[in-house]
Amino acid sequence: MSQIQTVKEASNIVDVVSEHVVLQRSGSSLKGLCPFHSEKTPSFFVSEELQRYKCFGCQETGDVFTFLEKIEGLTFYESLQKLAEAAGIELEPTARTKQDEDREAVLTILEQARAYYHYVLTSHEKGALGREYLTNRGMSSQVIKQFSLGCVPAGWSNIYDYLVKKKKHPPRLVEKAGLIMKGKRGGYYDRFRSRLMFPLRDHRGRVVGFSGRLLGDDQTSAKYINTPETLMYHKSQLLYGYFESLKSIREKKQIVLVEGEFDVLSSVQAHVNEVAAIKGSSVTVEHVRLLKRVVRSIILALDTDAAGVTATKRAISVVQSQTGITDATPLDVRVAVLPHGKDPDELIHSSPNQWRETIKTSVSAYEFLIDTALAQHEYTTPEGVRAVMIELSPVLSLVAHEVERSYYIQQLAEKMGVSEPAVRADITRYQHASTTPPPPPDTEHSRTNRSSLERYAFFLAFRQSNVQDAFAHLRQADIADRDLSSLLKELSGSATTLEELQRSLSQEDQSLLFSIYSADEYVPLLESIDVAKEWAMVQKKLQVASVTRQAAQIEHEIKMLDAKQNLTSAEEQHKNELLAQLVALKRQTPA
Ligand code: CTP
Ligand code: MN
Repeated sequence: MSQIQTVKEASNIVDVVSEHVVLQRSGSSLKGLCPFHSEKTPSFFVSEELQRYKCFGCQETGDVFTFLEKIEGLTFYESLQKLAEAAGIELEPTARTKQDEDREAVLTILEQARAYYHYVLTSHEKGALGREYLTNRGMSSQVIKQFSLGCVPAGWSNIYDYLVKKKKHPPRLVEKAGLIMKGKRGGYYDRFRSRLMFPLRDHRGRVVGFSGRLLGDDQTSAKYINTPETLMYHKSQLLYGYFESLKSIREKKQIVLVEGEFDVLSSVQAHVNEVAAIKGSSVTVEHVRLLKRVVRSIILALDTDAAGVTATKRAISVVQSQTGITDATPLDVRVAVLPHGKDPDELIHSSPNQWRETIKTSVSAYEFLIDTALAQHEYTTPEGVRAVMIELSPVLSLVAHEVERSYYIQQLAEKMGVSEPAVRADITRYQHASTTPPPPPDTEHSRTNRSSLERYAFFLAFRQSNVQDAFAHLRQADIADRDLSSLLKELSGSATTLEELQRSLSQEDQSLLFSIYSADEYVPLLESIDVAKEWAMVQKKLQVASVTRQAAQIEHEIKMLDAKQNLTSAEEQHKNELLAQLVALKRQTPA
């Protein structure tokens, strides 16, 4: 058994969840108030049998590891470590390298530097310039504390003296922490001088670096400087303020992404707490992967100049690349359009309300892309219309839901003043170039109906006392849904209870099984239906559906042959066979 499996079996999700949620037994499962969104009536449901949880309100779902990842902001490995520790299991030691030791020392150094800078800013006479600067920018002592802001006075060896001379850290490691640099003659000097200091924390809250904003007006020096890439600091992963705002981000399930440190601080002061900064850089795949664990919606509030628009467009496509069409809960990307030429910090200083309003009235990424495409091209000319369609077809054809896609098509047609069917045709043509159309008799409608009947059948099958018997029936039913039929293949073996059975499944199949087991649309029915009767009824329906479908397929083939003028004798014979099959099928149809 893998270590992961061992740890999982030694833990009980009920105990782990109970540390965060008060659970009450209801039937075969436990219920409580969801920790991932705010609610007054419990819709957070935990299955001890399957060791999984799901919220019927906000759709959060997963196992004991994902619960810890989400609630405590841990990585998978960290949650594994935590559970192993609680269960008294020793994980196989991953050989500790010199690099691990350095990393640990660097973290200690960075933490001490944070404390030093913060002390200087809040309590030392040398922090007067920093304090004055923050007062001028309207920052409260509460924000200074929450973000543990600091400052460093002018001088070449403030941090060097503190960390090397006083705290006795080897200069080699302080250099690795990114705080000092080697001069031409071999001596060291401070990287950050006369600056306001922002500790940069990773998603677990560890200080991994700093950014420093110039205090005073030294024109020869950059306004902001940052820790260079180090053992601990990776620019592409960092979101300034994420950890400090995690509680609000998690509650709101949304995050507002801004450009800079002061945008974050001011936003928090204006009571928009779910905010983080990309620090003048770009939104990366790593950012999105981190955010995906916690939020449903990302609101981009980047600059409105040309570079900002390009950054926003790129950010939208990065988010899209990380959210599959098949995701049950895809990430929603929105754009908050700031008044021209203002960053959030400036906007908030003139009107905190307008900032909140800007976020509330953020538009969907698609609407934003439509509007910017229309602003860029002369869409009153045929060439302009073509340019707009070339730009937008790939984007709009990716909109997963038909209704949503229709909505944007309609918007785009209206705004350009062209006919909606024409716009639709262009986008559909684009889609067809990359996907093959479904076979004719299986309409969209019959497919969704069928798929939900099949899901219901599985839902009921999971509640039979002998699940293997139930699966045997499903195997005869010719299940069309791809996921379900492949799950069915995995569900063979000797296990008769669901609990035993799920151990043999892969991670994906386990979560698929659970998503059906806990399907929102069916769970509430359990109180009123007779499971055995429903199960018998559904089996019959599946059989009828299968026969009807086969008949429709045959009828379609016959029609195609009928449409031909002169049938060859082979075709004639084939047609007769089809007719015979059809008759036989119709006889099979259960009453
Ligand atoms: N930035 C940086 N290095 C620079 C300039 C900018 O790292 N030389 C980052 C900072 O995180 C900054 C962000 O990019 O906050 C946006 O830059 P800019 O709009 O120029 O600065 P502001 O955020 O407006 O800075 P301030 O309000 O402090 O003047
Ligand atoms: Mn600014």
